[in-house]
Amino acid sequence: MIDQLNAILKDAEGTIAQASDLKILEELRVKYLGKSGAVTEMMKGLGQVPADQKPQIGKVSNEVKNKITALLDQKVQEMEAKAEQVAPAGWDPTLPGRRLTAGGIHPLTAVQKDIADIFRGLGFDIAEGPDLETDYYNFLALNFPPDHPARDAQDTFYVKDRVLRTHTSPIQVRQMENKKPPFKFIAPGRVYRNESIDATHHHIFHQVEGFLVDEGVQFSHLKGILNVFFQKFFGNEIKTRFRPSFFPFTEPSAEVDISCIFCAGKGCRICKQSGWVEMMGCGMIDPAVLKNCKIDDERYTGFAFGMGVERIALFKYGIDDIRLFYQNDIRFLEQFQ
Ligand code: DAH
Repeated sequence: MIDQLNAILKDAEGTIAQASDLKILEELRVKYLGKSGAVTEMMKGLGQVPADQKPQIGKVSNEVKNKITALLDQKVQEMEAKAEQVAPAGWDPTLPGRRLTAGGIHPLTAVQKDIADIFRGLGFDIAEGPDLETDYYNFLALNFPPDHPARDAQDTFYVKDRVLRTHTSPIQVRQMENKKPPFKFIAPGRVYRNESIDATHHHIFHQVEGFLVDEGVQFSHLKGILNVFFQKFFGNEIKTRFRPSFFPFTEPSAEVDISCIFCAGKGCRICKQSGWVEMMGCGMIDPAVLKNCKIDDERYTGFAFGMGVERIALFKYGIDDIRLFYQNDIRFLEQFQ
């Protein structure tokens, strides 16, 4: 009987060691220690054992039972510990983790900030004005005669007796009227024009206005400031060129071109082979505008300029369609992070 018990133990050691899951271990527990398990059956037979052998056989059967119990318990523990480490099916730990996407600054906001930073470095303050303007600030105070074509309903959105500002120039008037010079401001803002949308036009876009009024301000100061601005923004190699133009609120007026940043002025598709691209309007503030702001136009002179943020952003990033700025397509915006 002792041999039989030892054989059961040996068998159990082998099968338990090889058991590959908890279900098999449970089956083994039944096989050896269950109601009709091998060890249990042996212990039931103890009754027929001669009395002198009983204590020894009883002792060995208890030992075998305890050993098998311990082996089973230990194996269960091992398996449970391992299960915690083992990944769920289908999970591949060698794959890279999922990338967390963070929001970025919109390219138009970034460009507007770059512009503002440069002018702030040159001592300009920042001013703002309302999007919904009166005819007076948007046009009349800026020396637009009542029959000027820019007032045409084709260009201007009217809202009852107001207009959605068509440019940021009215901020000049709001800043200067009834206040004493000197003035040195830039004024960023959204502007509105009744235009159909295409690759280069949108009915809502952004401008940055700039103006400086003091004693002795000359056109050369304007040129100097704008040269510095474009070189800081696009690079030191950038050249500027001022072409005579017309705006009701400046006299003389000019349009500013910069040497084409794509071909360094050699001539390409973007600059239509001219080597120059138009960047903004500017001029010496018309004395009539200063008068409207109750500024002594004999004593003070000033310059002003206005640029389109979208246009500058198109050139900075080499983008050829203004609509991309407003579609909020993540694939486009992600490139500016
Ligand atoms: N307001 C003009 C526009 O929207 C831009 C402009 C031109 C602004 C000349 C100025 C300036 O201050 O001096 O087209």
